[in-house]
Amino acid sequence: ATNRTFTMIKPDGVESKNIGNILQMITDAGFSIKAMKLTKLSVEQAKVFYAVHKERPFYMELVDYMVSGPIVAAILEKDNAVADFRTLIGATDPAEAEKGTIRAKYAESKAKNAVHGSDSDENAMIEGEFHFSKEELVG
Ligand code: CMP
Repeated sequence: ATNRTFTMIKPDGVESKNIGNILQMITDAGFSIKAMKLTKLSVEQAKVFYAVHKERPFYMELVDYMVSGPIVAAILEKDNAVADFRTLIGATDPAEAEKGTIRAKYAESKAKNAVHGSDSDENAMIEGEFHFSKEELVG
């Protein structure tokens, strides 16, 4: 699955009315959307999704934030999807994100950073399967 990645437009990206702008940047960059939904995470889902960060001081803040409003989850396809998507979104901290990246344009802070992007092919697969069934993927 080296040609797929998983993304979420986080609650701040939805709240700031940037779903359309962010999806436009994603498709303009050559990604095709293979599955997508507007949803709201439960506390349990957010804890599982971010389990890799459970020892971090910001873990509960991150979980609380991710359940604070709706998100848009999507599976994206493109050659070199994971790395190219991380380039498109920019650094975790919008203050450090390169000009023209999604986070430079639309993120507020390190916590409220507008979008998620998988950090490896393995996690892209795990995260995609966490949110979508096979029937929800278009062929
Ligand atoms: P992301 O890289 O998509 O996944 C881990 C998330 O943890 C990261 O985005 C941020 O939203 C969040 N995060 C990272 N560092 C901090 C921090 N110092 N305080 C709060 N949230 C953080």
